[in-house]
Amino acid sequence: MKEQQRSQWASKLGFVLAAAGSAVGLGNIWKFPGKVAAYGGGAFILCYLAIVALIGLPVMLAELSIGRATQKNVVGAFRQLDRRWSFAGGIGVVTLFVIMSYYSVVGGWVLKYVWVYLTGADFGAGPDRYSAFFSGFISQPLQPLVWAAAFLALCIYVVVRGVSGGIERVSKVLMPCLFLLLIAVALRAVTLPGAGEGLRFLFSVQPGSLTGDTLVGALGQAFFSLSVGMGIMITYGSYVPKNDDLFKSAASICALDTLVALLSAAAIVPVVFVTLGQEGLGMGGGFAFMALPEVFAKMPGGRLFGLFFFVLLFLAALTSAISILESCTAFLIEEFHLSRLKATGLLALPLMLLGAGYSLSQAGGRGINLPWFDFSAGFQWLPMNAVMEKFTDNLMIPLGALCFCLFVGWVWGTKNAAREIGPQGGKPFPLARPWGVAVRFAAPLVILVILYFTLGKGQGLS
Ligand code: PFF
Repeated sequence: MKEQQRSQWASKLGFVLAAAGSAVGLGNIWKFPGKVAAYGGGAFILCYLAIVALIGLPVMLAELSIGRATQKNVVGAFRQLDRRWSFAGGIGVVTLFVIMSYYSVVGGWVLKYVWVYLTGADFGAGPDRYSAFFSGFISQPLQPLVWAAAFLALCIYVVVRGVSGGIERVSKVLMPCLFLLLIAVALRAVTLPGAGEGLRFLFSVQPGSLTGDTLVGALGQAFFSLSVGMGIMITYGSYVPKNDDLFKSAASICALDTLVALLSAAAIVPVVFVTLGQEGLGMGGGFAFMALPEVFAKMPGGRLFGLFFFVLLFLAALTSAISILESCTAFLIEEFHLSRLKATGLLALPLMLLGAGYSLSQAGGRGINLPWFDFSAGFQWLPMNAVMEKFTDNLMIPLGALCFCLFVGWVWGTKNAAREIGPQGGKPFPLARPWGVAVRFAAPLVILVILYFTLGKGQGLS
């Protein structure tokens, strides 16, 4: 039988940038600054850094080693190592599919804002115009879906072009652009009058702000931000050539992801703090879309700054969404013997349908009236947007990460995995021992704590 030639990254840098492209996303630029602000600044940052190094990096290495050892998609990888654990891959695929559907919708919002800034940044009139503009836009029935479809089409375009010809090539151009833009935005932000006060708020550790909630918040954020717990790193690891050192690559990916998160916080928190005060920081999800345009409007050169910011957010969202779509696509290609084009085409419609549910439920209690059907009653009792986010963030991602750790730690064995982490024929992985302890004990324990806090305390899926 003819062995099918499997894709590989063309260079080590290409892989690191593509994986960092997956990790650096809306989570870093949109969610992280808001969380830092909400959990009181420095204490959250310290917790976050410790968790990335002690839990996030070990889980990422576990995933990469499974991928590279098997050279398979997330389900195929588990089936090859131990058929009984295929369900762990299944958890990954379901999570990826759900995340992709709403990531496309939020990606569509970002695309819309790039367009708004390109065409004059007109948000209408009135004191609440920025939040009114945003809620008006996301609660429309069709417009957000058109932008989501455009975003998804861009992802499909890149993924169809393949691993090194599409994803790697795009990441090598987009990631440096993203860094340059972010540095420009951060420099502009920290040189604004009064920014020092905001920076102090951001980095100072207030006594008493290190609580259990801070820890749980930092854990959830770290997994989402590093793209671990759903098998992306199994897929991306499966394209890594055998002579690469996985530890060096994983450490670079974690460092880049954390750097971008910190730079984003340094760029955003002080300006919001200075312009809108503490209240502006408490906006949570709508932060980037409601608070920031108001900030941009108040500062000199704000329109250009705003355009830069949303292009930045768009690049970050695109490279992350591509990694999610690639992982679902690899699953379909290998498990069902489809072509790349067919696999992505087959995903598009169900993704858009689920995404439509997410988008249409944005209006919440206010309800959406389509010309041919009144959705208001239907979507009042089913806040699909909140349910989908909680389902993935609070349940599926920790569950996936737990399964991956238990599998590597107790079934496949950390010795086998550690052998895979070092480059083939090169030096063995020097931190194999502490890493083994992290994967077998520390990470599962900590994940169980998150699951207890988010589900056991009743904050889970309701
Ligand atoms: N890590 C990405 C971010 O921080 O936005 C989000 C993400 C990418 C989540 C890929 C899940 C995923 F599979």
